[in-house]
Amino acid sequence: MKGVSINLEGKKAIVFGIANDKSIAWHIAKRLNDAGCRIAAGYQERVEQLFLPLMKELNNPVYEKCDVVDDASMDAFFRKVQEEFGEVDFLVHSIAFAKREHLHGQFMNVDKRGYEVSHQVSSYSLIELTRRAAPMLKSNGSIIAMTYLGSEKAVPGYNIMGVAKAALEACVRYLAVDLGEKQIRVNAISAGPIATLAASGIANFADMLLNYVAKSPLKRNITADEVADCALFLCSDLSKAITGQVIYVDAGYSSMGI
Ligand SMILES: NC(=O)c1ccc[n+]([C@@H]2O[C@H](COP(=O)([O-])OP(=O)(O)OC[C@H]3O[C@@H](n4cnc5c(N)ncnc54)[C@H](O)[C@@H]3O)[C@@H](O)[C@H]2O)c1
Repeated sequence: MKGVSINLEGKKAIVFGIANDKSIAWHIAKRLNDAGCRIAAGYQERVEQLFLPLMKELNNPVYEKCDVVDDASMDAFFRKVQEEFGEVDFLVHSIAFAKREHLHGQFMNVDKRGYEVSHQVSSYSLIELTRRAAPMLKSNGSIIAMTYLGSEKAVPGYNIMGVAKAALEACVRYLAVDLGEKQIRVNAISAGPIATLAASGIANFADMLLNYVAKSPLKRNITADEVADCALFLCSDLSKAITGQVIYVDAGYSSMGI
């Protein structure tokens, strides 16, 4: 970034959600790393092949398999981070999952298990990871979750994920209250559509990209690097009075009425 320099030397971040070099979490991890922050990354076994080479690009990272539906793997991950880092400054939650069959067609066809799993992975996990990280989190710390406009407006095809994101955004506000006294901030970034692995499961995704170009005030799509810029801001003292918020990095699309 030209003109503004944010120095995170000596800081440490836990980052969840790196699957490959397109992942929003990867762009955030790289940005924090380049600002001097050390990264502890939790990753799913299924993404290992593309995940491991990326770790070579970071400065002395810590990494461990961690699936948020598996208590034992979360225990092992947080034990490792505790041993290696002791204290942490930031937690980045960039995780979501819904069954592919529930990301198209009529929303009312979602079944109970599909509802549960989307919420367990995409919103409950923020509570679980925050609770586990809390004893290690330093005052002035920052927690960031990733969300999307489908939480507050109906976006055909986004379906059950929109409901999970609504829950996630509510979790952000309640966690901000829990941790506020310790001067730890909790916010969500609501990003415009970006072509990633997770996005490939959403019906109408190509139309979403075209819609942003046609209708957003900036007449374009956004990049994962622009989301990472916002995450860097939210980890810095420049945002130290901002908590419990959903911040839009969406070329202004969410501000439009038509
Ligand atoms: N790509 C977009 O258009 C967009 C827009 C707004 C918000 N988001 C949000 O950004 C976040 C990151 O998604 P992305 O687009 O970078 O896609 P991605 O596929 O690169 O990342 C999703 C990540 O979730 C992880 N994950 C899924 N289930 C998990 C589990 N059980 N345990 C641990 N990790 C698990 C995957 O391993 C993967 O790393 C998600 O919350 C997504 O909803 C994405």
